[in-house]
Amino acid sequence: MRGLEQIPWFYDTFMYLADNLGGLGRWRRKLVGATRGRILEVGCGTGRNLPLYGDDALLVAFDVHLEVLGAARRRAPRVPLLVASAEALPFRSGSFDTVVSGLVFCSVSDPVHGLREVGRVLRSEGRLHMMEHVRARGRLRSRFQDWIQPVWTRVTGGCHPNRDTESHVEVAGFRIDRDGRREKGTMRLFTALRVGSVSVSVSQAVGDEPGGGREDRSEP
Ligand SMILES: C[S@@+](CC[C@H](N)C(=O)[O-])C[C@H]1O[C@@H](n2cnc3c(N)ncnc32)[C@H](O)[C@@H]1O
Repeated sequence: MRGLEQIPWFYDTFMYLADNLGGLGRWRRKLVGATRGRILEVGCGTGRNLPLYGDDALLVAFDVHLEVLGAARRRAPRVPLLVASAEALPFRSGSFDTVVSGLVFCSVSDPVHGLREVGRVLRSEGRLHMMEHVRARGRLRSRFQDWIQPVWTRVTGGCHPNRDTESHVEVAGFRIDRDGRREKGTMRLFTALRVGSVSVSVSQAVGDEPGGGREDRSEP
């Protein structure tokens, strides 16, 4: 499905405003800031996160839509970019130490399947860093999201505003680190580990404030 997300100039104009005026850029820097080792960025789109990784990052990025990768290539000429789908990752099991997803799993057709694939390509103690918008808590807002979803999904080219992505992450076999989690309205920023992996100090994985996990009053 193609829509506004697959029109790079439109998406980048909208995201420029969200990043710089809405404060999303600050969360992007947190999302990327604690990554380490071999990194896979899922659904990189026009590559807005890519310049935020260090020059020495061992990074591979992909998107399911070829048309957005030209902009990503211009932003990050040295990063290997692929056309691939989250639901069928062309990588061996345990290939990555970190997987990053920014605003992607609202759009993946089968999110639980895609997240299981992410779990497969992560090494057992690897970390999934996510920044996603999710289903609203309030009844009125979530009902509105349900009502608008069919049109919204069509116009945007895949986005589901009413997705309970954190539940999908847990169903797919991850445990969300509650300490490092950030929440602002329907926006979430968190790290998840595969269930059964050794619990290490993940509270430092996302976010830069000790004793996090509280409502983040910063934008967005
Ligand atoms: C809202 S954009 C986010 C782009 C980028 N991550 C960012 O933070 O600006 C969602 C992206 O997910 C991609 N996408 C949707 N379904 C996907 C899938 N199954 N596998 C990989 N990418 C997918 C879309 O093509 C789109 O580029």
